[in-house]
Amino acid sequence: MSISTDFANLKDKVVVLTGGASGIGASTVRLFSIHGAHVVFGDLALEAGSALVASLSPASPESTLPKVTFVPTDTAIYADVVRLFKTALALHGHVDHAVACAGVLTPGADFFALDQNVESVELKEPDTSTLDVNLKGSMYFARVALVYLRHVPAQDSLEAAKEQRDSKDERGIEREKLDKSLTLIASDMPFIGVAQAPLYQISKMGVLELMRVLRPLFQSPLSGHFLSPDEEVEGRQKVQIRVNAVCPSATVTPMIGGLSEAWQAAGLHINTPEMIGQVILRLAAFSEIATDGGIKKKAYGMALDVVGGEAWDIEEGLERSMGTWLGERGKETVLGARRLFKGMGEAVWDG
Ligand SMILES: NC(=O)c1ccc[n+]([C@@H]2O[C@H](COP(=O)([O-])OP(=O)(O)OC[C@H]3O[C@@H](n4cnc5c(N)ncnc54)[C@H](O)[C@@H]3O)[C@@H](O)[C@H]2O)c1
Repeated sequence: MSISTDFANLKDKVVVLTGGASGIGASTVRLFSIHGAHVVFGDLALEAGSALVASLSPASPESTLPKVTFVPTDTAIYADVVRLFKTALALHGHVDHAVACAGVLTPGADFFALDQNVESVELKEPDTSTLDVNLKGSMYFARVALVYLRHVPAQDSLEAAKEQRDSKDERGIEREKLDKSLTLIASDMPFIGVAQAPLYQISKMGVLELMRVLRPLFQSPLSGHFLSPDEEVEGRQKVQIRVNAVCPSATVTPMIGGLSEAWQAAGLHINTPEMIGQVILRLAAFSEIATDGGIKKKAYGMALDVVGGEAWDIEEGLERSMGTWLGERGKETVLGARRLFKGMGEAVWDG
């Protein structure tokens, strides 16, 4: 995916993000803000969050809205996640894009420590807080985001309905649905095959699966509706929510510390946080993108592996090569099961 600075359509969009005080999240907050979006971000790190807000330029003189707002948030606490979105709605009236970036990388290797015995394994319940932040936190975020992204207050809905009626072309074709997005941050680490950070790896594979669970739901007709009480407003504009995951390879942030030197010394490509931020912005800004795999497609249901700034859609590769990695019988079974569940009225991802 080529780096682009053409993000004009992000101007005045409202973005809610977690983990915005450091690393990839902070770069993403900066980039959204530079391109004119209003950002409401949550993080545990109070000082760093406030410092980032202070470092970004204030709202334009004619605007009374704050451009960037920090809300102290623990993404593992459901009420905090709700408060983050509530704040964005109260400040800006709607939410356009949501990015779940908060994460922790704790080694956690002692979870399956080989020196455990029947006494020691009983002594202390293991620490699973990494799962709480990375996986449960992303699930909380997605649950709340998908409601707030669809929520349009009554007045806006009427205006959107009017806009839509006014915007039919001469052939009477309605203009596109309101384009919104949810981006989850997974990782390429589960593919590497080390057992270095089991809780982290399991949580990130879970985040990838979270995207896979959501994408069939939001390609269904449900995604074309507002949830507001005035849902039946005639001719109201519909909303589409594009759900995607980004799977960064090693990225120079406090999370990986000194590993970045060893990584580069081994001749491996590394990302800067800005590179990941660019990919996240691209997923929010464009409903169709071309990855470095060369295929231009709807930016929906993708899992973008990002290495040295280049992005590849893992999901597209998995679909295309299914017969190779799953075997022909396995492939036929998966495709047959999709048809079966579809026939039963289930939401099924159609690849
Ligand atoms: N750096 C990498 O190599 C890399 C690779 C793949 C994926 N990722 C993912 O990218 C995301 C961002 O990581 P980063 O590298 O920028 O790390 P980082 O440590 O620089 O930033 C993570 C941010 O999340 C915040 N955070 C942690 N726990 C939180 C909680 N419970 N509630 C709210 N905020 C919390 C931290 O305070 C911090 O500001 C993470 O999800 C991480 O797993 C990073």
